[in-house]
Amino acid sequence: MSVVLGIETSCDETAAAVVDDRWRVHSSVVESSIDQHHHFGGVVPELAGRAHVTTIVPVVRAALESAGLDVGHPAIDAVAVTAGPGLIGSLLVGLAAAKAYALSWDVPLLTVNHLEGHLFAPLLETPDLAWPVLTLLVSGGHTMLVYQRGPGVHEVIGETIDDAAGEAYDKVARWLGLGYPGGPPIDRLAGAGDASSLVLPVSMTGEDLDFSFSGLKSAVVRAGEKRPDLAHADIAAAFQRAAVEQLTRKLRRALERYDVAGVAIAGGVAANSALRAAVIDLATEFGVVAHVPSLAMCTDNAAMIAAAGLSHLTRGSLGRLDASADPNWSLADVS
Ligand code: KG4
Ligand code: ZN
Repeated sequence: MSVVLGIETSCDETAAAVVDDRWRVHSSVVESSIDQHHHFGGVVPELAGRAHVTTIVPVVRAALESAGLDVGHPAIDAVAVTAGPGLIGSLLVGLAAAKAYALSWDVPLLTVNHLEGHLFAPLLETPDLAWPVLTLLVSGGHTMLVYQRGPGVHEVIGETIDDAAGEAYDKVARWLGLGYPGGPPIDRLAGAGDASSLVLPVSMTGEDLDFSFSGLKSAVVRAGEKRPDLAHADIAAAFQRAAVEQLTRKLRRALERYDVAGVAIAGGVAANSALRAAVIDLATEFGVVAHVPSLAMCTDNAAMIAAAGLSHLTRGSLGRLDASADPNWSLADVS
């Protein structure tokens, strides 16, 4: 049995986890500097990088300890680390730490794409998952549709042409004065609002599988300025309905074209209550399995990075100790 330590520091979460090749999570520790960013309307890269420097060692120790491993010389087979995409200063902290651990324990380094990590989250909760799977990967920086033939074998079949879905949530929340991250408060507010009080355009109604969210965000701001009487809850409800409608419309189109055993959602926006419900309905309609991960597995964590690393280890695709981080590393470039 192979066991991998995963390290994730691409944004505001400092995370470490231990996972084995049967996709069992032995430990998963996540520390976030989110409270330091709340008032700035987004993650401040400088603050995030500094926070990783102080938390990385305690977080790795906690992950090893809670997996029952010797902190000095753990019985692990490799160290997997996120090498991009993400904030460069944050990525470099995790990468440098992972190199030091790999060197001192004399095990291979595995450099993982953060988005590939997200694709492994459903597998960690359903280890006997049937392939192929269509995954809607929706986070603060990315929105894409991915056709997965098996673990680590994927093809990007649709992508946002401008903002990511999470970015639209964060921008609308900032405009409503709800702080960062914007997804959770908008999701909560939307539950108390009337979506029909504001008609918003649904973007990207064409046949392709791409997305666009910048027009929706601008339409919300324009409508809100024109009608200052509108309640925030109604604005949130109308925005959420339009955003989820665009996501599910494209997912439906992909399900019509691709013969799959399951459909999955991954990334921070997969925590959204309306999206989760819509994807479960869609899966029932198409007779496929819905993989809707727990909230902790939707947002950034290191178990998904360790899992992606395990698939690299199995293939013999090892990282190099002179590897650098790439803040713009595209999932399409991961084979
Ligand atoms: O995957 P993630 O943790 O970090 C990135 O890799 O970007 O995603 C964070 C994003 C943020 O934009 C946040 O507002 C959004 O996920 N998010 C949500 C919800 N919870 C988090 N968006 C909509 N509804 C939610 N409940
Ligand atoms: Zn993420």
